[in-house]
Parts: sequence; C-alpha cells; structure tokens
Amino acid sequence: MNKKIVLFLFFLFTVSNFPITIKSPDGKLLLSFDLTIKGEPVYSLFFLEKLVVESSRLGIRLEEEHGFTEGFTVIKIDNSGFDEVWEPVWGEVKEIKNNYKELTVTLSQESAENRILVIRFRLFNDGLGFRYEFPEQAALQYFKVTDELTEFNLTGDHKAFWMPGDFDTNEYDYSVTPLSQVKASIGKLSDEIAVKSIIAENAVQTPLMMKSNDGLYINIHEAALVNYPAMNLLIDKDTFTLKAELVPDILGIKAYLQAPCRTPWRTIIVSDKAENILSSKIILNLNEPSKIDDAGWIKPMKYVGIWWEMHVGTSTWNYADTKNVKLGVTDWSKLVRNGRHGATTENTKKYIDFAAIHGFGGVLIEGWNIGWEDWFGNWKENVFDFTTSYPDFNLSELKEYAAGKGIKLIMHHETSGSATNYERRMDEAYRFMTYHGYNAVKTGYVGKIIPRGEHHDGQWMVNHYVYVAEKTAEYKIMLDAHEPVRPTGLHRTYPNWLSCEAGRGNEYNAWSKGNKPEHETILPFTRLIGGPMDYTPGIFQIRLDYYQKGKKEQVHTTLAKQLALYVTIYSPLQMAADLPENYERFPDALKFIEDVAVDWDDTKIIEAEPGDYITIARKAKNKEEWYIGAITDETGRTAVIPLNYLNPEQKYLATIYADSPDASWDKNPMAYQIKNYVVTSKNILKVNLAAGGGAAVSIKTADERDLMRFNAYEE
Ligand code: NOJ
Ligand code: CA
Repeated sequence: MNKKIVLFLFFLFTVSNFPITIKSPDGKLLLSFDLTIKGEPVYSLFFLEKLVVESSRLGIRLEEEHGFTEGFTVIKIDNSGFDEVWEPVWGEVKEIKNNYKELTVTLSQESAENRILVIRFRLFNDGLGFRYEFPEQAALQYFKVTDELTEFNLTGDHKAFWMPGDFDTNEYDYSVTPLSQVKASIGKLSDEIAVKSIIAENAVQTPLMMKSNDGLYINIHEAALVNYPAMNLLIDKDTFTLKAELVPDILGIKAYLQAPCRTPWRTIIVSDKAENILSSKIILNLNEPSKIDDAGWIKPMKYVGIWWEMHVGTSTWNYADTKNVKLGVTDWSKLVRNGRHGATTENTKKYIDFAAIHGFGGVLIEGWNIGWEDWFGNWKENVFDFTTSYPDFNLSELKEYAAGKGIKLIMHHETSGSATNYERRMDEAYRFMTYHGYNAVKTGYVGKIIPRGEHHDGQWMVNHYVYVAEKTAEYKIMLDAHEPVRPTGLHRTYPNWLSCEAGRGNEYNAWSKGNKPEHETILPFTRLIGGPMDYTPGIFQIRLDYYQKGKKEQVHTTLAKQLALYVTIYSPLQMAADLPENYERFPDALKFIEDVAVDWDDTKIIEAEPGDYITIARKAKNKEEWYIGAITDETGRTAVIPLNYLNPEQKYLATIYADSPDASWDKNPMAYQIKNYVVTSKNILKVNLAAGGGAAVSIKTADERDLMRFNAYEE
C-alpha cells in the first residue's frame, strides 16, 4: 500500500479509535494507550483525572536489525476484567483480592515481516502493571535485548526516596531529594559496601518512592522478575522522565530471549494516601500462583543465631587466621585455631538452649564450614564446599541436640559471589542439609560475581536466584537470600522463599556509619514493596563500645524501636539478632519478641509518611491477638492508635513497650517502660515515641486476673 494512504488511514484510525482507554474497577485510575505518528507505542496514567504519568514511550531495542521501537499498527484490542480472592501460604493478610481491568494491545510491525508484539496492561484500584509479550511466530525466534525504552514521564520534580542506581548492590543508604537533585555519585562514599557498580549520576533503583507537590504518592517497581535483568531508572532532570535502564552482561547485552516469552511487569502504585502504598498487593497479584502444592512444610518462624557476635567483632567466622586455604588440600585440623571461632559445638548448644527456653523456632549458624579464612575479596571460585564443617563443629552431635529440644537449625551458604561453584555443589549441599536435619538455608552473595563479568542484578544471576528457590523447594528447604537482586513478589510463586535481605540491614549499624533514624520509615515504602526483608531486628545493646572500649558504632534507634520493627518490617522469618546474654539482661522487653507473630490474618496500616513515621497493627494468624508497631524518624512524636478493629464484645490486655520520657536514639537509647492496660475497641492509644524511637504493643484477650490487676486505659 502507498505510504501516504497508510498514513491517512492511520490518521483516520487515530481520530476514531485512539487513544484507547480503560478505567480501574473503582473508576479512579484511567490508563490511556496510543501510537505516535511514527507508530511508537505510548501510554499515560491518570488518578482522579489528575495526570500521574504523561504520555510515555514503550518499546524494546534489539541487537538484531529491527527493534520493537516504532512502525507499529494496532491489529487487535482485547478488554477483560478479573476479580478473585486468593490465600497466600503465609503473609500480612489471610486473603488477597486480585481485581483489575485488563487491556491487551496486539501490535504489528510491517517493516519487520509483520512481527507481533503484545503489550498487556492491568489496571488495579491502586495502580498499574504492564509488560511486553513476544508470541511464538515465524518472524521472531531468538533475540537479544540491548535497551528497554519504557518511560515514566512524571508531571513534576517530585520528592524522591532514592538510592543510587547500581548493577550490583542495593545496600545503600536512602537519600531524600527532589528528582532534579539526585546525585548517584554520593554512593561512592559508601566504602562499607563490598561491590558497587554505580550506573550514572542520574540513575536510581526501584522500588522508587515519590511524593508529588500536590500530595500524590507514587511508587515505581517491577513484578515477577524472571529471565530478565533488573530495571534501574535514569532521570531526565528537565522533563522528569524516568527511563528504564537494564543491567547488562559483559558484552553489553541486557537479555537473551527466545519467543514465546515475556518481560517482568512494570508497576506504578498510586494513591493520595501513603497508607495505601503500604497495603497495595499489586506486586503479589502480578506474580504467578504458588508452584508448591504441598506447602505444609513451609513454616514461618523466629530465629536466633551465631551472627551478631561476628558483626560486633567478639568472634569470627573463620577458624584460623591464615589467608590462603584450598579445598581438598588444606587440612584444617592442622591449622592453628584463632581461639575466637564463633560456630563451635558448645556455642551452638548455648543458642539452642536459649531458643528452646524462649520459644524460638530456629538457630542460624554462620561460619560452620571450611573456607572462611580467605573467603572475601579474592574473586575465588572454589571458595566453599558447603559440606565440610570446621573441626570444632560437630554436625551429628548438634543434629541430635537440636532435635531433642525441638529446635530447627538454619544452615548458612555464603557463596562469596561464586554462583558457579554453588550451582555445581547445590544438590549435594541440599542432600547434606536434609541428612543433618536442616530445613532452612540462608544464602549470601558478598563479592564480585562468578561467572566473572556478570552482575548481581543481571539476567544470569536473576535466573540463578530463581534456580536456588526451585532447587530448595525440591528438597523442601526454606530460603532466605542475602545480597540477591531486589525482590519482585516471587514469594507468591515460591513460598519457600521466605525472605531476602536485598537492602541495607541492621548489620550496617555494627560496622559502618550505620542506618539513619529515618531508614526504617523508608524501607517499607521502597525495599519491602517487592517482598519480605530479613532486616534482623531486635538489638537491645544499642551502643557497641559495650564490647570494645572506644568503638564508635551504635544502632541508630532506641531499644523500643527495635521491638516495633517486628511489626513494621514484615518477614515470615524474623531474627532476634542480639546475643542471648543481652536478652537475658532485659527479659521484660524480650517478652514482646517471644510473643510477636510472624504470620498474619490481617494488617491495618494506621498511619504512615515515608521518611517520617509508620504505625501498623497486625492480627496474628488464627489467634485473637494483635501486635502493633509504631516508629518515627529522628523527630519524636505521639503515635495515635485507634483500636476499632478489635472485637467490640471483648476486653483485652494491652502491653505497651514504649520509650521512656527521657529516651532518645543518640543520648539515651535503652530507656524503655512497659505498661499494662485493659482496653476495648473503643480506645485510642496515644503513645510517646522518642527521637529515633518507637513503641510496640501486644493485645491479647484479658482474663479475670488481668481485669483485676490492671486499670482500664484512659487517655
Ligand atoms: C552479609 C550478610 O548480610 C550477613 O548477614 C552475613 O553475616 C555476612 N554477609 C557473611 O556471610
Ligand atoms: Ca548484606
């Protein structure tokens, strides 16, 4: 057909049918899809008639001759809707509503043998997800992605809660600035991070949390990241357009794909209330249902471990202080032990005893296996074998000891970034775990990745993390991954993948400038949008000069705030990270950690503002018990906590673990007070949070004795 006629027809078509729009089920969000005059796909998003994302480009550039970039015509439009309720194996709520309107646009590219690209949009009441799909077709088999053109063209210079865009790490501190003032090079100052690859001065990571000047909360992330690299965002500081920037491999290729296939979902959560960002279930809903049918063996739990003592420096992972060891050659029994090795049989028994007395489910042991002497910084491939313990760690004895006390042991598989070594040894390692009675593993990827040249967040490693989730599931092993790519809701599909670090955890307080008091008020709006975090809360001994005179580091919260984190930072696997002897000094505060649940029927986001404060109430799974966590940044405040979600017929005992009036994170962090009251659904608690502080509340049904002993709550 003559080009002019095509253009004319295209224009007619545009006038009559374009843009194509759909509305969210509640009508508040509107998505609009269009093609530019060059046949480039574009979309925009409105919230209550207000623009959230202005016309933004879609497309994929390929290494091959024709990209999925322009010259498209629409050949089919499908509209549909979906509404279901599903039950996660574990989670923040018992039931999740998955309700959206779907628009599927099928595009054809005449210039490339009428090749087909499908763009699927799902519009929920709280945001949008969309992805690219490449159907099976003669004109497309194998192809290489060199760039994704997806844009998020924002309407202004929003306040952003960001960390530098990076191919290898998500363990930076957050900065809070307008988009125009993002300077990713600030990340260069973070010497405490082992491996960094900052992308560009204007690059940030997702989940990116933003607030517009007129009070809209916007969160951009991705869902179901499988067989594709992670997405960073490049900011155009003049137009406030964010563009996808994928993690490349050493050849500069972003993804190697074979049709039929699809990309992960790109997600935009929007609301005029910050609380709705935290309660959004878009990311989970966009992931595939569980692949594990018999999930009965997956059991959320709290755990303690041989861990913090290494981070504060009172013991070591390594057995000897030599710097050059070789698997299969070095005889560890002949090395001179350094006398500070943490993972000894005796020390493990101490933790098992503590766990059994205080009702913890598991004990993590780090540094149990040979190889720690030269594990870091050598880009060494055969660094650990995952099956040989140090001479002072007796696996069989501990298997029996733990089983006798009803405690599960959690194995540690630090890979040092050597994923090839781990993949080769994985089957043997998991068989070994099963044989020795371990049903949970904590993995780790500290160091430069092997295959050399790959990044932590590239396609190869993304596939590795998923492979580990699949393999562990095969052996009925629960998984907690440290230093993986940021989560994207895959715990729906692999519910044995209980938790991840993938962010700046509490450990940074032990050996670096630490985490700012506002850090934990940002995490739920950023890192946790993708899934649970193994933040390792519960440090009671806040100042670390307790261990070593002159040590400057400290945890940047009050003790009471550490308790609140069990509620505000969700994880079905929660560590009580401090040393048993510290918990024994504060048994009344430890009671909250003993009591708090890790699996929930319901969650109420009571009040929240990113960077400032968060208060959350959660109902324990199958129990008439609620737990509340309230935290603040460096500014003290009063948390106002209605109890109107309690059963109105019932009287409850509320135990409030709060900062003392003279507490503050920097001057008096360990001062707390515990008070008991009888409460009902009519009460509204007002609790003082110190600067950098927090409060935790447990609410249980009151018995006769409680009613006699404690006063009714009065404001
Ligand atoms: C970093 C992890 O986040 C931490 O939990 C672990 O103890 C060390 N790596 C050693 O593997
Ligand atoms: Ca880490």
